[in-house]
Amino acid sequence: MKSTTMFVCQECGYETPKFLGRCPECGLWNTLKEFKIQGSKLKSSVSASSLNPKPEPLQLISEVSSQKKDRISTGISEMDTVLGGGIVAGSVTLLAGDPGIGKSTLLLQVALNLSLKDNILYISGEESESQVKLRAERLSKNLKNNKLFLVALTDPDSIVSILEENKPSFVIIDSIQTMASENLEGLSGSVGQVRYATTQFIRAAKTLNIPVILVGHVTKEGMVAGPMVLSHMVDTVLFLEGEKNTGTRILRSLKNRFGPVDEVGIFVMQEGGMTEVTNPESLFLNKANKEPGSVLTVTLEGTRVFLVEIQALVIFSKLPFPKRVASGVDYKRLELILAILQKHAKIPTDTLDVFVNVAGGFKLSDLAGDLGIALAILSSLKNISLTKTVAIAELGLLGELRMPSLLEKRIKEAIKLGFTKVITPKNYKNVGEIANSVTSH
Ligand code: TYD
Ligand code: MG
Repeated sequence: MKSTTMFVCQECGYETPKFLGRCPECGLWNTLKEFKIQGSKLKSSVSASSLNPKPEPLQLISEVSSQKKDRISTGISEMDTVLGGGIVAGSVTLLAGDPGIGKSTLLLQVALNLSLKDNILYISGEESESQVKLRAERLSKNLKNNKLFLVALTDPDSIVSILEENKPSFVIIDSIQTMASENLEGLSGSVGQVRYATTQFIRAAKTLNIPVILVGHVTKEGMVAGPMVLSHMVDTVLFLEGEKNTGTRILRSLKNRFGPVDEVGIFVMQEGGMTEVTNPESLFLNKANKEPGSVLTVTLEGTRVFLVEIQALVIFSKLPFPKRVASGVDYKRLELILAILQKHAKIPTDTLDVFVNVAGGFKLSDLAGDLGIALAILSSLKNISLTKTVAIAELGLLGELRMPSLLEKRIKEAIKLGFTKVITPKNYKNVGEIANSVTSH
């Protein structure tokens, strides 16, 4: 069989028959690697857009069916919400996350749920069948009624044959980085292999109308490994994140052709697997924030609100460049808030070492947390306890308090959880004004 040489960029997946020193797509140097592709397989490794070889007849807009896609419930309502109501038939979903965060556990739970009704196939490229079984026994008391089939395989071509022969109702492939075809050179995990395997699975999913979930580990840079190419090819990208030591896990959708991209699902990793948290509003809250340096804020994730505690420790610095340590908040944002406090609240932040932390391992990206960070710093510096104070406002460069989105919803949540001292742009205009009022008490 004739084989063709292709050069594939390891960063962005750009393909060219000629060797180039610099990738014209992403501009990086020395990222093109050579792949030998068997003649007949060449087409299949190209792009997802070549999946429909026969042109479809044109359709008038009035004739196009606008029926909602069929969705399969995963049996885990937090996951269904993130997906936009369940898994769409024939869709390909990528579940990405750090190694050890709980991807295999979550998907095995989904497989166990679905296999009570239908034939489900779990393909493991990382663990043996018996290892997967051991885990399944941890997650479910009785496996007798589950029509769950396990196979340990890493060859995408054999997997596609199995799908064609057995036509399961749902397939999990764990993980895409372990897949390697003999039809092309390159180790498992290389862009060429990951891309080839993904193309094969997408083709199978679409032609057989079987939903497929792929597991993908992320690299240190935080990208979906095998890099970005994968997320362009699949229908939906879910991301599972959390601090390994806290047990809290957040499932987000980064891309969704069939649903919203701002919903989050909250889980706790426990002995019996990933447990849903259906009322997570106060999950990230420590019991009492009596100590100076602690202030609460209400942050928005998708359409959900959470109360989180911001903690600050402020001391006079002996260093020419005072220390700033930010955990759970953006370092640049902290620097900006310190500058605003210096200018508009007359706090000599340039002489202070400042440590800021968000309790419970929560990552605060919502700017409505600005005022909470500022007040936690002030509270630690002045040694004044701001017990049960909730601060919700973005800070502007002029020291002004700015309205965050959905302020009413956030205030309501704070009050519902028993916090009545709520500082927002509705009752204060400027951070200097709040600093005066706090320190004069
Ligand atoms: P895993 O699902 O293997 O992670 P990933 O597939 O993302 O690499 O999760 C591994 C961790 O989860 C491991 O540290 C053990 C823990 N775990 C539990 O806490 N409870 C459980 O029921 C299971 C199955 C795993
Ligand atoms: Mg795993």
